[in-house]
Amino acid sequence: MDKIPVLREMMQPKDQNVWGRIGGAKILEMIDLASGTEAMKYSKGYRVVTVAIKEVIFKSPVYPADILSVYAKLNRIGKSSLTIDLEAEYLRRDGTVGTAATAQTVFVAIDDDGNPVQIGEGD
Ligand SMILES: CC(C)(COP(=O)(O)OP(=O)(O)OC[C@H]1O[C@@H](n2cnc3c(N)ncnc32)[C@H](O)[C@@H]1OP(=O)(O)O)[C@@H](O)C(=O)NCCC(=O)NCCS
Repeated sequence: MDKIPVLREMMQPKDQNVWGRIGGAKILEMIDLASGTEAMKYSKGYRVVTVAIKEVIFKSPVYPADILSVYAKLNRIGKSSLTIDLEAEYLRRDGTVGTAATAQTVFVAIDDDGNPVQIGEGD
């Protein structure tokens, strides 16, 4: 996994749930944004849209004031699709580092009409 994060953010109280943990929706939003950013590097200038967010696993809780970094790496280019592997890592004020979540996303390159466009050869 590329160790330069695509996104890095300090978690804010507004994103916590009733249990005082950062809600899954916030983490999913960061995963979606980071993977779209990574996918755009390989889409030959075409816009990309999310077709699937797969295998999301929340491994450890994230709390307000944790710094969450999202790492993304291209896994596969299909004909029109791009599969991205993601890891979200927390850094606590006490210096603890750990994996908060992992996921795999699939994006599709589309033309001006919203139809899939070929950007790779597939398998
Ligand atoms: C993405 C979209 C254009 C695909 O259209 P489609 O007619 O289903 O396209 P296809 O069936 O030809 O599939 C296109 C590619 O997506 C892949 N794909 C489609 N559904 C998938 C799924 N559930 N999981 C993984 N890959 C999938 C196909 O395997 C194919 O890959 P390839 O070209 O590399 O072989 C269309 O479904 C769409 O517009 N979805 C809404 C996207 C959106 O609004 N996202 C949220 C905001 S960004």
